[in-house]
Amino acid sequence: MICLGMESTAHTFGVGIVDEHAKILANEKHTLTTVEGGLIPREMADHHFRVAPEVLNRALEKAGLSPRELDLIAFSRGPGIGQSLRVGAVAARGLALRHRKPLLGVNHCVAHIEIGRALTGCKNPLMVYFSGANTQILGFESGRYRVYGETLDIGVGNLLDGFGRAMGLGFPAGPKIDEMYFQAKRFVELPYSVKGMDLHFSGLQTAAEGLVGKAEAVDLAYSVMHTAFAMLTEVTERALAHTEKKELLLAGGVAASKALRKMLGEMCGAREVEMFVPPVEVCVDNGAMIAWQGLLEHRAGARQTLAQTVIQPRQRADDVEVTWLPKAPGKRHK
Ligand code: FE2
Repeated sequence: MICLGMESTAHTFGVGIVDEHAKILANEKHTLTTVEGGLIPREMADHHFRVAPEVLNRALEKAGLSPRELDLIAFSRGPGIGQSLRVGAVAARGLALRHRKPLLGVNHCVAHIEIGRALTGCKNPLMVYFSGANTQILGFESGRYRVYGETLDIGVGNLLDGFGRAMGLGFPAGPKIDEMYFQAKRFVELPYSVKGMDLHFSGLQTAAEGLVGKAEAVDLAYSVMHTAFAMLTEVTERALAHTEKKELLLAGGVAASKALRKMLGEMCGAREVEMFVPPVEVCVDNGAMIAWQGLLEHRAGARQTLAQTVIQPRQRADDVEVTWLPKAPGKRHK
């Protein structure tokens, strides 16, 4: 069985093609970037409309397939920016209707977990999903992916990008700040805001932006990252203690950060937890994970009529009933 997946939740328009063994036959994408300034929803949608045909053709060419040879089309239905999501949904519907293929809308966050599990071989991980818009700690328990902790305002990637914009670094700023992290000499005290299992980043961003030009740039970049990642590591460690899971899976664009991997890696080492980092192409937003998620759900019997293939910009991972995994025998499923 071969599934084509379309991703368009935010800045990336991606098309991936996978087979029933999670072999990635193609994973093409085009991401909107800026030299300075941030991302505007309308511009993201315009970008996706512009690049969609070319990305789709590239993916089919790479896989050596014609649309007729596909068995299933899947697309990201949420969570994400409505205008961006709609482009992927329309493109996926058009392709499915034109070639009479079944169509499934799937959850983007759950897709990150499942492609990570498939490619790294971990079984029942706690997943830390840190991207621009999403910051969540998730794990499977009693039939669903539960959210153990999350941001109450902005995603950690938004924090880094917003701060980077104030520093004049453009989008995405995360990789540039990650390099500065290892050059710093001094830690600058910034607000550390953990509320139970949840996190706040906007106060940290405001404070850091107020110090741009007053503190050394590398010291400030290091301190923003170190403070945010220490907050993330703290709640992740607590979630590991609560769930007693022995695997940690990283996902989201921020998972590419060497600084984050170092901090989480040290914590995992101390707790005898194995850390799994999927290849960066599937940590960031991509179509292959959507294709794999569609395939898993279709195999478990999921079907959607055309009228049901609507976008759900606010759909959460814990809204999704996990039908493709055996139900956990008890609360502490390991
Ligand atoms: Fe994502």
